[in-house]
Amino acid sequence: MHILHVVGARPNFMKVAPVIAAFAERDGVQQTLVHTGQHYDPNLSDIFFEQLEIPRPDVSLEVGSGSHAVQTAEVMIKFEQTILERKPDWVLVYGDVNSTVAAALVCAKLGVKIAHVEAGLRSYDRRMPEELNRLVTDQLSDLLLTSSPEAEPNLNKEGIPSNRIHFVGNVMIDTVFRLMHKAQMPDIDGLNGDYALVTLHRPSNVDDPETLKRILTALDEISEQLKLVFPIHPRTRSRIDALGHKPATGVLLQNPLGYLECVALQKGAKLVITDSGGLQEESTALGIPCLTVRENTERPVTCTEGTNTLIGTDMDLLRSEFAKVIAGTGKAGKSVPKWDGKASERIADVILSLPS
Ligand code: UD1
Repeated sequence: MHILHVVGARPNFMKVAPVIAAFAERDGVQQTLVHTGQHYDPNLSDIFFEQLEIPRPDVSLEVGSGSHAVQTAEVMIKFEQTILERKPDWVLVYGDVNSTVAAALVCAKLGVKIAHVEAGLRSYDRRMPEELNRLVTDQLSDLLLTSSPEAEPNLNKEGIPSNRIHFVGNVMIDTVFRLMHKAQMPDIDGLNGDYALVTLHRPSNVDDPETLKRILTALDEISEQLKLVFPIHPRTRSRIDALGHKPATGVLLQNPLGYLECVALQKGAKLVITDSGGLQEESTALGIPCLTVRENTERPVTCTEGTNTLIGTDMDLLRSEFAKVIAGTGKAGKSVPKWDGKASERIADVILSLPS
């Protein structure tokens, strides 16, 4: 059986790594890896391939940045050629980035079978580009591989029957378990004790100058009580520069981190403050309280079972929830079903049991 994986942006890389490793152990499987190049900076892409031990891509489409339409269209044009040349039996797409939906559209039109890893997550907020990517990708997929229990009813409501849905578990957590022993704390100037890890990159938080200013001001205040380690995505960096905001000395701005550094920093943190989907899940798996600066989440299981609390952009709520965590009364969380390090094995089992 010939399986072709498509990845493009940072959050895809930790998802594909354990799935490639699982299929590599099975007989009779040929694998092809396509990198669309949606993320191209070495610290958003190459470092993840090295640290996650992902084989070099067989095909690099080098699409780069652009508006949503341009980026999606560029992936489609180049990926169509790849599919026609490589003729896979199954295409695996991951998560909810523009590369995911672009690849799914190409395959659906060419009649090539698609499996969506991390299907069925919904924030029910169509202002989020990722929500549109999830909706369309799931409608086009033949096989829906879900990471948490609420995904199947979400998909059923959209007319997708249960016989195409398999609850396999969370491949992000496979990677946490697989590589935890290699996690390495980075050297950070000015860090010598307790800290919180902060990441922010959602357009809804960083593109509007007033919202961004309010968030940065609250972080400056919080940093008087606890140092904040804040690795910055390029989008956020350019928005902070445009605002002319100079963060307080307790906010330790960093270039984007590698995976092993990010996991180590999460594990050692008092708490995580983020708008990332991946960090909401990883902090739950690691048992670290997480305050999510978003009005909604497509990963509600991290709130109901895990350590996550949604605080929206209400900065008073951020301050009060932060105080709770510092007082030791933050959410403890419990384990989530099938976040057990074996999701990729289940994916290989499901796909290899189907006709090619
Ligand atoms: C993308 C995903 C988002 C994911 C995030 C993780 C979509 C719609 N969004 O958002 O779901 O959480 O990745 O990082 O697919 N840029 C660089 N270097 C790069 C790539 C991008 O500097 O290697 C800059 C460019 O200015 C670009 C901007 O970042 O315009 C945004 O990149 P893009 O891939 O469009 O979206 P992200 O915000 O990274």
